[in-house]
Amino acid sequence: MASDNGSLPESDGNGLVQRPSPFSRWFSHWKRETQVGAPLEPIHCAVIGTGAQGQYLLRYLPRIPGVVVKALCDAYPPNLDEAHRMAPSAETVTNYRRILDHKDITAVINTTPLYLHAEVVNNALQAGKHVFCEKLMAYSINEAKSMARTAQSCGRILQIGHQRRYSVLYNYAWHLIRNEKILGRITTARAQWNRNGSWRRPVSDKNLDPLLNWRLYSDRSQGLMAELASHQLHVVNWFLDATPIAVTGVGGIDYWQDGRDIFDNVHCIFEYPNGVKVSYEALTTNQFDGFYEQFMGDEGTIRLTSDKDEQGFLYREPKAQKLEWASAARRVKSGADAEAILLSASASRKLLSGAKVGQMQLHGRSSGKSDYQLEMEGFFNSIHNGEPVLCNWEDGLKACATIIIANQAMLEQKRLLYTPDMFTL
Ligand SMILES: NC(=O)c1ccc[n+]([C@@H]2O[C@H](COP(=O)([O-])OP(=O)(O)OC[C@H]3O[C@@H](n4cnc5c(N)ncnc54)[C@H](O)[C@@H]3O)[C@@H](O)[C@H]2O)c1
Repeated sequence: MASDNGSLPESDGNGLVQRPSPFSRWFSHWKRETQVGAPLEPIHCAVIGTGAQGQYLLRYLPRIPGVVVKALCDAYPPNLDEAHRMAPSAETVTNYRRILDHKDITAVINTTPLYLHAEVVNNALQAGKHVFCEKLMAYSINEAKSMARTAQSCGRILQIGHQRRYSVLYNYAWHLIRNEKILGRITTARAQWNRNGSWRRPVSDKNLDPLLNWRLYSDRSQGLMAELASHQLHVVNWFLDATPIAVTGVGGIDYWQDGRDIFDNVHCIFEYPNGVKVSYEALTTNQFDGFYEQFMGDEGTIRLTSDKDEQGFLYREPKAQKLEWASAARRVKSGADAEAILLSASASRKLLSGAKVGQMQLHGRSSGKSDYQLEMEGFFNSIHNGEPVLCNWEDGLKACATIIIANQAMLEQKRLLYTPDMFTL
């Protein structure tokens, strides 16, 4: 059977189609779909903060074997009611501490706003719960460290919600870059997230504004860098296996002058070890070219997007050695009229159980599963069988420190240095 993209391996039901690519060698240990063993002990979980992201993750929980949503918590009744419609048998509460008293709830999904992450997570861990906490890990580096220390001292799992870590495509690209060295020596990376919209939610009562529009206020939010850039800088740290040394940046409240006090556009340059420079931009006034992360080496470039049609593009430098397998790969015309080898996540629907893609072990078919579902599965697998969390507090802390210092550099209009202690306990 022919691959529909020529880049990711696929199954014909009897195993992998072998093609002369690094991936066929790499995947040669793939197993057939394995039989799941004894029924899983149910894990009772609660979602705290059932706003947009809480509801989004809630959609995936019923699809995960052995997971029961026992309780929902939100301080804003309409959001709690909406979530309750999605999980009608769950108990609803407005004070999250009531959930922590439940002895039979062993896992908490924290989707509260950033300024509450440390408080909720520390209390949940201390109450003996395993915690999935949305990104950014915390509002400050010290808070992130306090969460990490609590997870350590309580011996509980703390996973952070940078879902690209659970993407088949991103893990595949990680493998190409780190193991196959397909880009040669990386000198530069670039990422952006461009949107056209104010980010402001309409409120019926202005007293609700800080609760519903928390993203726009600096006492509650770290702005675009936390909400958007953190995912992408997490990928940069992961792919480069490094943390930044210095950052310079410019931001401004230049368009949406509506009472917010966080930047509506940000532009940063990060310096990484070995002379690698990473430029970053997020706009709220123009969505051209959307969002992506791009890694550039002396033998090629990989650009990754994580929108609905998760895709990657590999461009080879003219002087780079020919890739054995490239003749079978699907090619597309893309930016700057350059021809790219398509790295499409669509082939992941054909991956078999037991496959390891990059750093990720697949369980069951990955068919039609989003990164969000895979990260939720990863969290519950860690609880069920001790499988290591891919995006753990160490990755969360690295991303958090990267972002907090970049915001500080823009505010102080200075080149700021990172120190190693920012990224570790
Ligand atoms: N991984 C992703 O792609 C992604 C996407 C969106 C949001 N997020 C993250 O998820 C988190 C939530 O974002 P959101 O967009 O869902 O925000 P949101 O404002 O839509 O939801 C937050 C909810 O928390 C509730 N809340 C506030 N204070 C509370 C309290 N004391 N107790 C209980 N509930 C309380 C609010 O009423 C609201 O319903 C943020 O950290 C955000 O960065 C992650």
